[in-house]
Amino acid sequence: MVSSVFFGAALSASLAAAYAPGLELVYSLDRATQGIAISADGRKFLSQRYSLTAAPQAVELLNDNTTRLYPNAAWNSYNASDNSSDPYETFVSIDGARIGPDGRYWLVDGGSSGLNGSTKLVGVNLSNDTVDKIYHLDNIIASDSGIDDVRFNAAAEVAYLSDTAGALVVLNMTSGTGVRVLVDDPSAVAWFPMMYNGTLVPGYQGADSTLAVGLDQIEVSPDGTWLYYQPCNGGLYKIETSLVDASLTNSTLAATLGDYAIPVALTPSTGGTTIDGDGNIYFSDTNLLAIWKVTPEGRATILVQDDALIWTDLMWVTADKKLWLPASQMRPGADGLMAQGPNNIFTFPIDAGPSPIDHA
Ligand SMILES: *[C@@H]1O[C@H](CO)[C@@H](O)[C@H](O)[C@H]1NC(C)=O
Ligand SMILES: *[C@@H]1O[C@H](CO)[C@@H](O)[C@H](O)[C@H]1NC(C)=O
Ligand SMILES: *[C@@H]1O[C@H](CO)[C@@H](O)[C@H](O)[C@H]1NC(C)=O
Ligand SMILES: *[C@@H]1O[C@H](CO)[C@@H](O)[C@H](O)[C@H]1NC(C)=O
Ligand SMILES: *[C@@H]1O[C@H](CO)[C@@H](O)[C@H](O)[C@H]1NC(C)=O
Ligand SMILES: *[C@@H]1O[C@H](CO)[C@@H](O)[C@H](O)[C@H]1NC(C)=O
Ligand SMILES: *[C@@H]1O[C@H](CO)[C@@H](O)[C@H](O)[C@H]1NC(C)=O
Ligand SMILES: *[C@@H]1O[C@H](CO)[C@@H](O)[C@H](O)[C@H]1NC(C)=O
Ligand SMILES: *[C@@H]1O[C@H](CO)[C@@H](O)[C@H](O)[C@H]1NC(C)=O
Repeated sequence: MVSSVFFGAALSASLAAAYAPGLELVYSLDRATQGIAISADGRKFLSQRYSLTAAPQAVELLNDNTTRLYPNAAWNSYNASDNSSDPYETFVSIDGARIGPDGRYWLVDGGSSGLNGSTKLVGVNLSNDTVDKIYHLDNIIASDSGIDDVRFNAAAEVAYLSDTAGALVVLNMTSGTGVRVLVDDPSAVAWFPMMYNGTLVPGYQGADSTLAVGLDQIEVSPDGTWLYYQPCNGGLYKIETSLVDASLTNSTLAATLGDYAIPVALTPSTGGTTIDGDGNIYFSDTNLLAIWKVTPEGRATILVQDDALIWTDLMWVTADKKLWLPASQMRPGADGLMAQGPNNIFTFPIDAGPSPIDHA
């Protein structure tokens, strides 16, 4: 976007709204929004994080544009300094948050390493705003796991959870048992640090460290056939969901699942993805501040680019063929994640609505 400084005050108001064609500013909120999910009847759920001082929170965005803690204050009350906080029944570190094919609002709590009960998948029944499913993942994950996001198979019986340590967690939602697969597979590990706005993202281990994040983004094709996944620095692969699901009960397959990984596209450093009903996957590009579209045939193009699309994270597709884009404002660095706003959510028109087995 062109800086309004050169054009004088009279024009600055109109230039301030001069986003890339098609990009429409819908909300400007008090807190930075990492993710948005919209129910079939139009309720909007946000995950808000990347504050240096406050814990990540789940909220519902109400029609008067205020927010309320969701599903309630108690679930959002975790306080690491307060030993009466119960990590089994509060959100310790929310990441992925989305409405699943069963209509529940599913929240991925990455938890805190070594804190029993903190890493879990939590399902909220939207008809009475009550948590009615909790899957604790303590017995499936590794000590260095970073459980990050979730998608579901076509039968809504198997959940796929990304593990940024470089693995995939496959969870049988009927039995509650699971397996951790693709561990350290070349398709699942960060083979390069991430990029932001033209430079490598600094890490947390001192001056010369960089941020490398393994398997993070996952999507399932609308016909349920393929599981797509990539490490955060990009490099998109797919595996047949039938093989991934079979790895729950076939330990030979679980140990060799990476042999079935098929490269799809060389995608960029990515903040978040979503998929539409035609099977196109949208990638936020943290480096170019853009959104890419990758077709089911693997053709990758830039859809829209704008400096306002700062680390766009968990996107959503609505039936009116709009892509919802929360610009999370994450500007990484060893000195902290948070930038001052504006905390914008945009929409962008696309050619398809949601995938029937992904969005409610
Ligand atoms: C809430 O925000 C939406 C989207 O920007 C806007 O259309 C609507 O008028 C706002 N509602 C109120 C009550 O301010
Ligand atoms: C967290 O708990 C500590 C210890 O009880 C307390 O001093 C602090 O105010 C709490 N923080 C919040 C945000 O409630
Ligand atoms: C919590 O901390 C207080 C103060 O240190 C201590 O008296 C209490 O026993 C602790 N409670 C639990 C459940 O650990
Ligand atoms: C955490 O769970 C492990 C395995 O079940 C157990 O051995 C350990 O005692 C638990 N730790 C706490 C603090 O409850
Ligand atoms: C949610 O709760 C309602 C009311 O208790 C129930 O009818 C419905 O089946 C539940 N939804 C799911 C997905 O289980
Ligand atoms: C909400 O619905 C679920 C699913 O039917 C049920 O298990 C739960 O008890 C209900 N909660 C309340 C507060 O009604
Ligand atoms: C999940 O567990 C149930 C109950 O044990 C079992 O019937 C079903 O076959 C399992 N599904 C998969 C995909 O392994
Ligand atoms: C990206 O980097 C350029 C060059 O340093 C700078 O002018 C611009 O403000 C940066 N944009 C963002 C969104 O950080
Ligand atoms: C388990 O997977 C292996 C490797 O794909 C395959 O050769 C074998 O037939 C499978 N076993 C069963 C019981 O399906």
